[in-house]
Amino acid sequence: MAIEAIRLGDGGVSEAEAYKALRLEGLKNDPISFANTYEEMAVRTVDDIIAELRANIVVGVLMENSELIGVGGIRREAPGKMNHKGIIYGNFVRQDVRGRGVGKLIMSDLEKRARATVPSDLLPAFEELQLRVVEGNEPAIRLYKSLGYEEFGFAARAVRYQGKYVGEHYMHKYLIDADKQ
Ligand SMILES: CC(C)(COP(=O)(O)OP(=O)(O)OC[C@H]1O[C@@H](n2cnc3c(N)ncnc32)[C@H](O)[C@@H]1OP(=O)(O)O)[C@@H](O)C(=O)NCCC(=O)NCCS
Repeated sequence: MAIEAIRLGDGGVSEAEAYKALRLEGLKNDPISFANTYEEMAVRTVDDIIAELRANIVVGVLMENSELIGVGGIRREAPGKMNHKGIIYGNFVRQDVRGRGVGKLIMSDLEKRARATVPSDLLPAFEELQLRVVEGNEPAIRLYKSLGYEEFGFAARAVRYQGKYVGEHYMHKYLIDADKQ
């Protein structure tokens, strides 16, 4: 089974293709869990995917046979007054290996990497991680709560998919002591 999470981005074309294939599997099997559509991901080029992996913090979990079985990422909020926040996105674990700690490993590893990011003149350290999760996605909500994420808002009708609306919970976790700011 899964051993460790690795950072993606330097694994070339085969890594980018494996990442894209897993994201497509997620978008096909669990479409309501993600804001993007299958079609949006399907047309992305390998170069575009590699650029995404390098621009963000994206981790993957491999099986012993090197198959990618889970992924997740953090992208920075872009506006300059919000770039102390990281947005968790694209969390997906292959269906046949769920419930064995892979999702937790991805989330813990992302948090560890966010905490280890060295601030520069251009970018601050990550002070907070945020995510959005659709109502009713209990496995994901439970996972996030178990890692200390708390809800700070709810957006009704956040997602529109096949003519139906679904609400989203906004959750976050501070990486610094917010009271001491
Ligand atoms: C959410 C997801 C990533 C979790 O991955 P996973 O590898 O199965 O999760 P883990 O095995 O690490 O479980 C960690 C915790 O999550 C919760 N959890 C996981 N599966 C669960 C389930 N089926 N029912 C209830 N809680 C569950 C539990 O709290 C669990 O902790 P525990 O084992 O100590 O009880 C996975 O279910 C998935 O890919 N879902 C489809 C895509 C998705 O919804 N992504 C999230 C978008 S916000």
